[in-house]
Amino acid sequence: MLNFTYFNPVNIVFGKGQITSLANLISADDMILMTYGGGSIKKNGLYERVKKALKKHNMLEFGGIEPNPKFETLMKAVDIARTEKITFLLSVGGGSVLDGTKFIAAAIHFAKGNEWDILSKQAPIEKTVPIGSVITLPATGSEMNCGAVISRNSSAEKLVFMNPQVYPKFSILDPETTFSLPKKQTANGIVDAFVHVTEQYLTYPVNAPLQDRQAEAILLTLIEEGPKVLDNPEDYDVRANLMWCATQALNGNIACGVPQDWATHMIGHEVTALYGLYHAQTLAVILPAMMQHQRNRKSEKLVQYAECVWGITENDQNRKINSAIEKTIGFFNSLGVPTSFKDYGIGMDGLNSIGSRIESRGMLLGEHHDIGKKEITEILELCV
Ligand code: NZQ
Ligand code: ZN
Repeated sequence: MLNFTYFNPVNIVFGKGQITSLANLISADDMILMTYGGGSIKKNGLYERVKKALKKHNMLEFGGIEPNPKFETLMKAVDIARTEKITFLLSVGGGSVLDGTKFIAAAIHFAKGNEWDILSKQAPIEKTVPIGSVITLPATGSEMNCGAVISRNSSAEKLVFMNPQVYPKFSILDPETTFSLPKKQTANGIVDAFVHVTEQYLTYPVNAPLQDRQAEAILLTLIEEGPKVLDNPEDYDVRANLMWCATQALNGNIACGVPQDWATHMIGHEVTALYGLYHAQTLAVILPAMMQHQRNRKSEKLVQYAECVWGITENDQNRKINSAIEKTIGFFNSLGVPTSFKDYGIGMDGLNSIGSRIESRGMLLGEHHDIGKKEITEILELCV
């Protein structure tokens, strides 16, 4: 097992009716800015429930944070927060609203005019505004991690920053808030959580059987529960299981002491920056291609994945890996998520630039840091 440190300070408040605990989780002395997205919380009644729970608190609001949250939009919230002397940020929505709120929290006290440096230069952050979250889409794990992914229209970029100061103080996970999710977003969430696990599991063995079993448990649960939710979107237990899977997939737990990949994500972010696809749509296409391209480098873990996750028993190692890749594709397709960029009308013409874009940031991808421009293009050729 590799060395590791593990720290996670997020207070998880899970279950039915937990929105009412908001009143006790935020001090009455705080000046709150509640952030939300394009209006789903108004349609499903969550907006009113949050307002009711916090009726004795001082609260302003900022709506309109879009999927793949935009720097340009978020800076409007930063201006409001600076003017109104906001002392607490409450994110009510999916991963985009929460990631956006993490950026707002980091930018409020950051040097004016240079806020993009938080993403582009990973500039140190001295002071942040505390965050709480009510998460409405099980997918990103943002509710229990300190990462955020922000896009900027003016430069067509989508970049990540991670900082322990933006861990939410608390996250409320009420599975009932997810009943209203459109099928497409539910499916996207399952794919995202699935790929978070494979990024931390499909690398090379380091004799960490506990982490392997934990990763496999999440994958198996997603495979079992995923199809059920599409048939019964208001099944509380299934929604609860999926919600906890998504949180566990990216809260640092299964990353302890094991190598990590993240190449699928890094390439996916570029595809979103160029074409605006939802995050999980990019992952569902790239992951099978990544498995195919990296099948020798990842062979031991791919065989383990075939056996322990898909129950594939045939002897021939190559056929085992082929079957595991086919099963992965079949699973994503069964959720209604395509596994080729052709399905989005995207060909190699535009994708060709992605290798150079990643190279220009000085990045080499994968658990061995050996996936560069040439390999990225080869992987993308398997995606179309
Ligand atoms: O904006 P509203 O109206 O709220 O609608 C949203 C949005 O249109 C809707 N939605 C969310 N909850 C709903 C709902 N609709 C009905 N009922 C509900 N309960 O779903 C749409 C998508 O929401 P979004 O927040 O964009 O989805 P998700 O949670 O998948 O977040 C995706 C973003 O997170 C980043 C992605 O790159 C992408 O920008 N990621 C963040 C990570 C992290 N912080 O650790 C890791 C991930 O790998 C990922 O990169
Ligand atoms: Zn993801």
